[in-house]
Amino acid sequence: MKNLINIPKMEGNSSRQAHADLPNGTFEREMSKEGFFGPSAHIYHRNPPTGWIDWDGPLRPRAFNLNKLSQNVDCPWNSVELLFNENCRIAMWRASKSMKHLVRNADGDQLLFIHSGTGELYSDFGRFEIIAGDYVLLPRGTMWRVQVKRPIDILLIESTNAGFSLPDKGIVGSHAFFDPAMLDTPLIDKKFLDQQTAAGATERWQLRIKRKNNISTVTYPYNPLDAVGWHGSLMPVKINVKEFRPLMSHRYHLPPSAHTTFVSERFVVCTFCPRPFEQDPGALKVPFFHNNDDYDEVLFYHAGDFFSRDNIDAGMLTFHPAGFTHGPHPKALNNMLKPKKAETDEYALMIDTRDALTVADLPNNIEDDSYLFSWLDQGEEIK
Ligand SMILES: [Fe+2]
Repeated sequence: MKNLINIPKMEGNSSRQAHADLPNGTFEREMSKEGFFGPSAHIYHRNPPTGWIDWDGPLRPRAFNLNKLSQNVDCPWNSVELLFNENCRIAMWRASKSMKHLVRNADGDQLLFIHSGTGELYSDFGRFEIIAGDYVLLPRGTMWRVQVKRPIDILLIESTNAGFSLPDKGIVGSHAFFDPAMLDTPLIDKKFLDQQTAAGATERWQLRIKRKNNISTVTYPYNPLDAVGWHGSLMPVKINVKEFRPLMSHRYHLPPSAHTTFVSERFVVCTFCPRPFEQDPGALKVPFFHNNDDYDEVLFYHAGDFFSRDNIDAGMLTFHPAGFTHGPHPKALNNMLKPKKAETDEYALMIDTRDALTVADLPNNIEDDSYLFSWLDQGEEIK
């Protein structure tokens, strides 16, 4: 059992309630251990903690425009890897045509987030339709392929050498955020049976297995997605972000961890969905500045109007490693206590990793180099 030093103290001019009733003209910054769960401190600054004017060295906030990546990748194992560490690999797969082969991830559970497009996912367990906003969780070892209807962009998140589970929902109970009964599972239906090799016929099917991030190819004289049934408690599951019912409080800005969707051993995946802004006049309406001291943070912007960020569009990804403060852009800060609208209108994914991520070798044209100084842009208020 850890026995962390965890004694609440106060010094100088501060608020007694985090994220509310800040001393006049101050900016609150949270330092914390264990993500948002361990000992933490709120420091009330005279200036926004992101007001740097110069920066040197490899550590920095970064932004990437994934819309500029190639769209013609026929296999998820050829997709563009973005960030990785020992426990997590994040890649963007943009496919305009259906897969003519099968894949299997032997390195870990595979989470797909369908950013755009439509198609069908065929696996050992049957098939389901996939549309933008779907999360699909494929247990390690599942054999699968995607049939594309409309060109499809998929964020691939691998839980290397581990699995994904649902978060502990604590005092709000297991049905909050989404009821596990909302998870869809694959069907062995006519379409699935029809894609199987007919009796007596011969077809060549390749299975590309990823293990230790190397690919081995196994060939069958028939389609190995030939199940006629299954039973058990391990299977692919799917849910769309439009089904989520986010937690919120009208008097308190909940930390990002309230939006945790899937948990791995060394990272979490959270989803920010549209929700009403806080109503209490003293409550913060934008994310509080924080250091994320124990985690690297990745955000992928799926759809909507990203209320705390300026010049960020759908299909972009930002990376805020541990070591410096991040928080809202200046235009959003103008609305720190008085929002311009009743609700947020954004869908974004956050991947917070306990271990430092490495940025992969990426195509030159996808990074927005101006992002480092984007917090300096004092301008008009956001609508
Ligand atoms: Fe953060």
